[in-house]
Amino acid sequence: MTAVAARDLTILYDGEVVLEGVTFELEEGETLLLLGPNGAGKTTLLRTIACFHREYRGELRVFGKPPCDARELIGYVPQSHSLNERVPLTALEVVAMGGIYKKGFSHFKIPREILEKAEEVLDFVGLAHIKDRLFRELSGGQKQRVLLARALISDPKLLLLDEPLSALDPSARAEVSNVLGKIKSERGITTVITTHDINPLLEIGDKVMLINRKLIAFGRPEEVLRDSVIKSVYGPLARVIPVGDRLFCITGDFHIHRHGGGSR
Ligand SMILES: Nc1ncnc2c1ncn2[C@@H]1O[C@H](COP(=O)(O)OP(=O)(O)O)[C@@H](O)[C@H]1O
Ligand SMILES: [Mg+2]
Repeated sequence: MTAVAARDLTILYDGEVVLEGVTFELEEGETLLLLGPNGAGKTTLLRTIACFHREYRGELRVFGKPPCDARELIGYVPQSHSLNERVPLTALEVVAMGGIYKKGFSHFKIPREILEKAEEVLDFVGLAHIKDRLFRELSGGQKQRVLLARALISDPKLLLLDEPLSALDPSARAEVSNVLGKIKSERGITTVITTHDINPLLEIGDKVMLINRKLIAFGRPEEVLRDSVIKSVYGPLARVIPVGDRLFCITGDFHIHRHGGGSR
């Protein structure tokens, strides 16, 4: 089944086009890496698929339905969470909140079935042992895994993750990438992941989409990640380097050191 289908999708803010004429299909179980420079429209596309933003033209379907009719099927993890860290919530409570939205609760008592499910998904992301620690005291990688667990608690069929690796150090990135790999291999959930560094995620990407205010390329990684395509968005210094049987993309943050010179 097709999980996400867009045909000639144009997304606007207050009548201004920010992303134009996007057409693609993502099959159930596939992982899509959504790549593009800052301001390209990645978050906007994700928010539109999630029904948080509704100003668009063209056709957009999530499991055959308009996005706002498919909300129950979607788990969304924004780039920065909006939890008030002054509220002393434990990791388990943060995850359980993801279930409460759906079921409703009274007297601020979290139903047992939701707590049990929360423990199960915390275990899945490898954090069962810190369930009673305060969320605000966790490391960046642990917080991101808790937020993934919070999205997983409602058994989404489509996961939308906005820059899940940004602002993490390399070891936390590996931690979170491992969980993303597990979500794919063990749960088979259709996932869209936005990123400006595609390299740590390439292994789990079935499809890659490159956008920059419009669709630049969409397809299998080896189809999209070609020098000519990457250079058209990121400039002449961008390139794709084969490393063994893998690809490595250089798209920005260049630090070219010259003898006696500075960087850049
Ligand atoms: N709420 C908003 N209102 C108006 N314009 C917005 C809003 N959010 C984003 N934009 C504009 O849409 C464009 C794409 O932004 P965004 O989707 O956040 O890009 P990315 O996630 O790729 O960095 C930017 O030019 C941004 O200024
Ligand atoms: Mg963004």
